[in-house]
Amino acid sequence: MFFNKRGRAIASFFLYNLAMEIYKCPVCNNSLHLEGKTYKCSKNHSYDIAKKGYVNLLLANQGNHFLEEGDKKESVESRTRLLNNGAYSFLRDELIKIIKEVDPKTFCDLACGEGYYTTGIHKEINAETYGVDISKSAINGASTRKNVEGLKNIYFSIGNLDYLPFMESSFDCMLNCFAPIVEEEFARIAKKDAAYIRVLPGKNHLLEMKEILYENVRLNEPKEEVLKGFDLMEKKTISKQANLTNQQLRDLFVMTPYAFKTSKDAIERLFNRESIFMTLEFNLFIYKRM
Ligand SMILES: C[S@@+](CC[C@H](N)C(=O)[O-])C[C@H]1O[C@@H](n2cnc3c(N)ncnc32)[C@H](O)[C@@H]1O
Ligand SMILES: [Zn+2]
Repeated sequence: MFFNKRGRAIASFFLYNLAMEIYKCPVCNNSLHLEGKTYKCSKNHSYDIAKKGYVNLLLANQGNHFLEEGDKKESVESRTRLLNNGAYSFLRDELIKIIKEVDPKTFCDLACGEGYYTTGIHKEINAETYGVDISKSAINGASTRKNVEGLKNIYFSIGNLDYLPFMESSFDCMLNCFAPIVEEEFARIAKKDAAYIRVLPGKNHLLEMKEILYENVRLNEPKEEVLKGFDLMEKKTISKQANLTNQQLRDLFVMTPYAFKTSKDAIERLFNRESIFMTLEFNLFIYKRM
């Protein structure tokens, strides 16, 4: 025993407050500490925790979460419904396997959406977990997941990947799933040797959907693999054929980029299908911070 009861209480008080200093003030870049239900920096800039438990660390001039940026409410709801149906659970399980091996003390899901992967992974590891996204509806959804499941030690914030609201060298492990990346910012918040996992759609992802929508189907192009500040350690592809119902097809379509560039006729063709066997394929890239 290193501490008596009072000593342990003092130690956990300091650990708790130390833990909270991962957040960064978006105005002056100093660390934020928690006072009651408000995060404050040494210059007294303050950010209240919303009723749902998240904090908004997005300044008005860093993008507006109410307007164009991020996912819209309907798209977030479709994603939640589809993910809750378990269609992508094999990806979540693979991510859990990888991140369990890393055994991080601090973990961050960058552009976490409505927190399906964030919460699913958090439950299986012993980490202080953070999720950040620019969409208010997404962070609202993520906080609902956290509250419904009664999860502790997991924190959601509204923020922009371009100006991440975290201090330098904060994380042992980071995830970025189907979302934009900002190399310099990701490198800044990662600890040395931190693991960073990026998930992108595989070549054949949603092939059958595209065959219904378009005459000339283009397979997904590979993305640039080299990232400044990170070494690529491993890449793998996982895939599955899933029998999707009509509702699942509709939900899936809404959350894809095709929702914005498909003719009405083609959408009708898709929505008339009762079910489809669909290829779900993901490329996982595992990097290490240099
Ligand atoms: C396709 S969704 C993926 C969400 C989640 N990672 C998942 O796989 O369920 C892309 C996410 O990126 C977020 N996003 C887009 N641009 C962003 C930015 N500049 N900063 C933070 N989040 C951003 C969107 O709001 C959206 O939630
Ligand atoms: Zn400040």
